[in-house]
Amino acid sequence: NSLSVSVSLCLSLSLSLSFSLSLSLSLSVSVDDLLVITAATEETEGFNRFMRTAREFNYTVKVLGLGEEWRGGDVAKTVGGGQKVRWLKKEMQKYKDKEKTIVLFVDSYDVILAGGPEELLWKFSRFKHRVVFSAEGFCWPDQKLAPKYPPVHSGKRYLNSGGFIGYAPDIYEIVQQWKHRDNDDDQLFYTLIYLDREQRTKFNMTLDHKSRIFQNLNGAVEEVVLKFEKSRVRARNVAYDTLPVVIHGNGPTKLQLNYLGNYVPTAWTYENGCGICDDDLLLLEGDDDEMPLVHIAVFIEQTTPFMEEFLERLATMNYPQSRIRLFIHNNVVYHEQHVERFWNRHRSLFSDIRIVGPEENLQHDQARTMAVEACRSDPSCDYYFSIDSDVALSNADTLRILIEENKSVIAPMLSRHGKLWSNFWGALSPEGFYSRSEDYIDIVQAKRLGVWNVPYITQVYLIRGDVLRSRLAGVSLFQQEGADPDMIFCRAIRDQGVFMFVSNRDEFGRLVSTSNYNTSRLHPDMWQIFDNPMDWREKYVHENYSKIFEDAEDVVEQPCPDVYWFPAFSDRMCDELVETMEDFGEWSGGKHKDERLAGGYENVPTVDIHMNQIQFEKEWLKFLKDYIVPVTEKLYPGYYPKANAVMNFVVRYRPDEQPSLRPHHDSSTFTINIALNSKGKDYQGGGCRFVRYNCTVESPRKGWSFMHPGRLTHFHEGLPTTQGTRYIMVSFVDP
Ligand SMILES: *[C@@H]1O[C@H](CO)[C@@H](O)[C@H](O)[C@H]1NC(C)=O
Ligand SMILES: *[C@@H]1O[C@H](CO)[C@@H](O)[C@H](O)[C@H]1NC(C)=O
Ligand SMILES: *[C@@H]1O[C@H](CO)[C@@H](O)[C@H](O)[C@H]1NC(C)=O
Ligand SMILES: *[C@@H]1O[C@H](CO)[C@@H](O)[C@H](O)[C@H]1NC(C)=O
Ligand SMILES: *[C@@H]1O[C@H](CO)[C@@H](O)[C@H](O)[C@H]1NC(C)=O
Ligand SMILES: *[C@@H]1O[C@H](CO)[C@@H](O)[C@H](O)[C@H]1NC(C)=O
Repeated sequence: NSLSVSVSLCLSLSLSLSFSLSLSLSLSVSVDDLLVITAATEETEGFNRFMRTAREFNYTVKVLGLGEEWRGGDVAKTVGGGQKVRWLKKEMQKYKDKEKTIVLFVDSYDVILAGGPEELLWKFSRFKHRVVFSAEGFCWPDQKLAPKYPPVHSGKRYLNSGGFIGYAPDIYEIVQQWKHRDNDDDQLFYTLIYLDREQRTKFNMTLDHKSRIFQNLNGAVEEVVLKFEKSRVRARNVAYDTLPVVIHGNGPTKLQLNYLGNYVPTAWTYENGCGICDDDLLLLEGDDDEMPLVHIAVFIEQTTPFMEEFLERLATMNYPQSRIRLFIHNNVVYHEQHVERFWNRHRSLFSDIRIVGPEENLQHDQARTMAVEACRSDPSCDYYFSIDSDVALSNADTLRILIEENKSVIAPMLSRHGKLWSNFWGALSPEGFYSRSEDYIDIVQAKRLGVWNVPYITQVYLIRGDVLRSRLAGVSLFQQEGADPDMIFCRAIRDQGVFMFVSNRDEFGRLVSTSNYNTSRLHPDMWQIFDNPMDWREKYVHENYSKIFEDAEDVVEQPCPDVYWFPAFSDRMCDELVETMEDFGEWSGGKHKDERLAGGYENVPTVDIHMNQIQFEKEWLKFLKDYIVPVTEKLYPGYYPKANAVMNFVVRYRPDEQPSLRPHHDSSTFTINIALNSKGKDYQGGGCRFVRYNCTVESPRKGWSFMHPGRLTHFHEGLPTTQGTRYIMVSFVDP
């Protein structure tokens, strides 16, 4: 063949094999002779994904039909697709004499490319045929044709027209035979040509039975796995041990394709890089009045711990409030106090706040519909940001980061602290419920970072306003009989072919657990140390507590020998503990005191209330274990506390009640003693004297704890409180 120029290509094919092939091949074609053709009437997200993978591998793609009206039928549900053949027939006129040109025709909405042009041409050349069609296990659209197919020893037997490759003159002649209507079936057309032995021979046609080039996922999902090697990822057909170049999510396998699309093309390193993400994000910047307008919708549909902190974060987000329209749906009477306080404190910040309270009796789905409609019907609404009350966005830049990702629908990845409970699903079961994807755990635990195409998101997400007004226009997003609004929402988005993403490229915060929240308590958040340990810590542990463990910042003092002094409680904890005790009110000194004395429990009587009386003992012991034990191990090296304690109580000193405590030992290995209010402000006098050392600490600091040995050496007394009321929290550890 005098026209074909023999080019020696040095192919460096890192085919994600465990070794790197370096082949010197003699191909009778060059990549310049390859022409990729696809058909698409709309730039859907699937189309953009296809083009992105094509760009990644430097394919040149000719798109037929963009902007034209699709008349090829609803290919998802019925036969059709003839329009694509008509366009190709016209286009191929240009190439009918181009002997060297090789044409790859593929669908685009549900296709991704996973290998480059050199690899494709090399694989094509190995077929030693002029035209190769993709194959699948279903004989569609006419099952009666099945017996007419040539038998195959192994591999898929039937033709699929979603992808084929061949020399231009042959393809030209094949498509010239198209004389049908736009909504006639393209696959049937090609099938009949293939099944005609004469034509099959004439065009030297064959099928890609073993997915060397084309992988149709329908009926073959089980055969395809992702292989992770060093820093590359590649989809592999394990039934035939091949690495397909074109992956087609045909039939009901679009979600599987979305999943593979998270990793393919291979051009990213999954250890520290990013699949779907393009470049590093620059934080959105600009004058306040240039920032996108965001409708923020807040949903308080159930009693939720740490509500005050949740609302406060709305006011401290790093986003100009002038560009926010705030909608709050509060369906919980208990939280009216919090919303009202928020409103009083911050209403002047926001130019527009709308609050719908429980008295309006608006259902959950109605509230969501109302909020999303407000954005949809406001042409100036650039984004709709929905957030539920159990979402703690500790990253104040969350909104900017999500906007910058520029996705139609995106959620920040969040999970409950240390748990696999998250706000997204990696996969769906056939019934549309949760199913665990292969990489779910790695994504939740941030071992793989990226922006992930997922089938289900919930609790917090950002939707582009223009998408609400275009692809999602006229779609009921939340309301449907008998289904949960979240499920309806995600299904509606999927059905419109809009991709949903979740990002774990940044840390955004966490989900708050609402399951054990007892609002009969005066300060119920205090009891959340088990369920929401991070939120509890932020609220109740002294902000400088962690400095105890930083050598550079050591905050621990030693006012008397072996008496250590360090920050423990936040002001908030001190106040709420005192208020809880006063509210409970059963200070000993009356009958409880006598019972305990009779039992010989306390050798020195105080006016006190014990933790078990307010049902806080479990929580207190957890605090000892998580926060005091590490300090003890640092300050008294070699001692490993069991953190047992039965005597845990708040003591009240008053001039007219019990002002002081005579010298005594404690029934403990060590004692902690935390000041719950402030000298000077709340009381006068007070303090503690260690007799053996004649050493006095006169000015206890609120929230700071003493820690000292209990018996033998640290015989001590409580000095008289001369004015006001002094409160301390005492715990005898390891009695
Ligand atoms: C694509 O082309 C660019 C510029 O010519 C080159 O730097 C890049 O390596 C190519 N990518 C691949 C996958 O061949
Ligand atoms: C046609 O296909 C056969 C294999 O069936 C192959 O050996 C032959 O080279 C092909 N002919 C041309 C002209 O490509
Ligand atoms: C955001 O994405 C749209 C397509 O979805 C694109 O047209 C636009 O240029 C993108 N904007 C930025 C800033 O990347
Ligand atoms: C809820 O709190 C009240 C008041 O403190 C208490 O009596 C009740 O036992 C608590 N319920 C549970 C389930 O802990
Ligand atoms: C924590 O330490 C810093 C620096 O020493 C200090 O300014 C701040 O007031 C401390 N916080 C509290 C609550 O005492
Ligand atoms: C204890 O210390 C105080 C002052 O710090 C001193 O006046 C007093 O004499 C000391 N007592 C004994 C027994 O050392």
